[in-house]
Amino acid sequence: MISKRGDYFFISTKSTTYVIKILDTGHVSHFSYGVRIDPSEKGLEFIHEGFDVNIGCGTYYDESHPMMFMDNLAMEYGTVGKGDAREPALEVRYGGGLFVLDPVFCSYRIFKGKNEDFLPCALSDEENVESLELVLKDKLLDIFIHLFYSAYEEEDVILRSARIENMMDDALVLENVSSMMLDLPDSDWELLSFDGAWARERYITRRALSPGVTVIDSKLGCSSSEHNSLIYLVRKETSAESGEAIAMNLIYSGNHSERIEVSPFSKIRVLTGINPFNFSWTLEKGGSFSTPEAILTYSASGWNDAALNFHSFIKKYIIRGKWKDRLRPVLINNWEATYFNFTEKKLLSLASKAKELGIELFVLDDGWFGRRTSDRAGLGDWVCNRSRLPDGLEGLGRKLHSMDLLFGLWVEPEMVSENSELFEKHPDWRISIPGRTPSVGRHQYILDLSRKEVVDYLYSALCEVFSLGEVDYVKWDMNRTMSDYFSLNKDVSAMGGFFHKYILGLYDLLSRITKRFPDILFESCSAGGNRYDLGMLCFMPQTWTSDNTDIHHRISIQEGTLMGYPQSTMGAHVSASPGHQSLRKSGIESRFNVACWGAFGYELDLTKLCDEDLEAIRNQIGFYKKYRNVLQNGKFRKISSRDDNLVFWSSTLNKTTIVLEYQILNRPNTGFQDKLRLPFLDRSKCYRISNRRQIIRKEDLGDIFSSYGKSVSEEYSAVVSGRLLCDYGIFLGPQFAGNGVFETTRILGDFGSRLYIIEEMD
Ligand code: GLA
Repeated sequence: MISKRGDYFFISTKSTTYVIKILDTGHVSHFSYGVRIDPSEKGLEFIHEGFDVNIGCGTYYDESHPMMFMDNLAMEYGTVGKGDAREPALEVRYGGGLFVLDPVFCSYRIFKGKNEDFLPCALSDEENVESLELVLKDKLLDIFIHLFYSAYEEEDVILRSARIENMMDDALVLENVSSMMLDLPDSDWELLSFDGAWARERYITRRALSPGVTVIDSKLGCSSSEHNSLIYLVRKETSAESGEAIAMNLIYSGNHSERIEVSPFSKIRVLTGINPFNFSWTLEKGGSFSTPEAILTYSASGWNDAALNFHSFIKKYIIRGKWKDRLRPVLINNWEATYFNFTEKKLLSLASKAKELGIELFVLDDGWFGRRTSDRAGLGDWVCNRSRLPDGLEGLGRKLHSMDLLFGLWVEPEMVSENSELFEKHPDWRISIPGRTPSVGRHQYILDLSRKEVVDYLYSALCEVFSLGEVDYVKWDMNRTMSDYFSLNKDVSAMGGFFHKYILGLYDLLSRITKRFPDILFESCSAGGNRYDLGMLCFMPQTWTSDNTDIHHRISIQEGTLMGYPQSTMGAHVSASPGHQSLRKSGIESRFNVACWGAFGYELDLTKLCDEDLEAIRNQIGFYKKYRNVLQNGKFRKISSRDDNLVFWSSTLNKTTIVLEYQILNRPNTGFQDKLRLPFLDRSKCYRISNRRQIIRKEDLGDIFSSYGKSVSEEYSAVVSGRLLCDYGIFLGPQFAGNGVFETTRILGDFGSRLYIIEEMD
């Protein structure tokens, strides 16, 4: 709900309110953001932590406002040159090099639904969404800033974006244009960011903020695994389950930047948007530029609730198309089973074993096209290699469909290998600077998607492939980052628009392809999780989370990912032991217990497994299908543990909660470890708790199988009141009583784990 009262604008959602105040000078200042308040509340003016503090010899706005220090004023969209020396939301050049702006309030509009200036953007919903447009104008020049705020009532999410309009006779150059700026009154916050690299994506970094600017960004041409555009501000005492948390993310797949500044006067300014690094955009008279959208949420009860706000927002307003609300199929991917070394016969034997075990989708990964027998050739030639697949994609598709399996296919459309027909025909389509030797990544180069003819070629090549094979699923990969920034596209001549134009070309291709193939389930991938962002999720409902499927690393990778993105978007596979990335050995059951928290599948050679492992997998798939809706769409929560050796996760849908208990190392004779508390359950109900039955190989326990096998593999169950589960917590592992008989369940080994099913009873 959005309302105006005097000089104040109130943007409210179910439990939050964001307040903006127009000052008597016309400046648009930020007033507050937090739990919901009533616009008619008495004494509202006193909650603002005043800007009119004397800051000695600081610059004040003008002689009529001697207490108005722009450097200490909470603003909605900071500009340069009137005394505010913090990081600006907008930087421009005009009139032969001037850059000072002084924008003030001009008009406003409150309306149902939302604007759709930049594509991709969040979906609208007239029932649930209301928007505010504030128009600001520079005091002297015809430069207009439109600030958009859309309140998603049910999800407690506020969407922000900006549009800059040049109505001057001269050109205006944008050098930095943020999607959102948020000025907070105190600096007593810590920052959570989601950082890493290939195979260790989105590990959570928690740091205290100190005076100066902290920058989280990507300059790689993609949103990147180095720093995700998701960030949180949390109080020192905030945990998953309590304390204040403000979370932000951007609906964009290119270079992004999140700047967090602690000002000399202990205020915090947060900016998020397209990275100003090597960015410039010229607006001729009448021209305008719209930023990508940013999302914002607030929770007074820990970061689980902020993450849950984002999860429901993403599922409802970012994911679209046929697969939006559908359960995702269990897949087998041949990559780690065969790498490039496959024949059709091998693929079909893998597919038939997969089908026998209950798998629903077969994904043919890299190596099926052109000269692609290794990663040194073939990218760009999207034509089937018939020496591998004698009946073509259409033949393989037919055979898989006749086995009642869906057919999935890997492509990496944005790339070209030097050893390819495409490169021989169009060497200038590759991104490189004439006269310089271009840098390489995985022996490949990037195609210039800022050029329409390149996008058109890819569109028709992919249409042909997807129709021929009657493909049901596509894994869209992107395995290197940008270098040698240059384009022959005349529109990018100054190169300052290069990164952004590339992303616009990619979005154009994706929107045409996804419109043409509305039934295909798309999964975006980028050498694992180099492009896990809301821009890609607008086109593709799933993302491959990381090439690293190591059980222990996945705990951190998935925990970080789930702070911004729902389980249904998170590709997670069981792969071989020892793992190909970590060389760690781990049990097949524990690998499943960790991988089943997303869009799930297998990526190993099923034809080489022993009978016990195959039985375990059959059993896992049965379990996953039974609880798939809870695991893909339930409310995910991290449950804090006092014991650093234990990890607890839960997912709740309707009356069912699934819990993961994971131990890092096995410890001898520890006595009781931490208890499991589920404070979100209903205190007035009773719950039946059981553990998932696991199939344990005799060789994993050796001679002690007969003594301990039962306690590791058997299923037990017990009934516990909601009040005890909420307020006291129960001991799991070492003392889990069942049906009157006192039994002990054990977790097997280092990195061992167990799943529990908790059903509310009538
Ligand atoms: C990337 C992906 C992998 C696989 C390979 C194929 O690394 O992340 O899953 O598809 O490419 O080359």
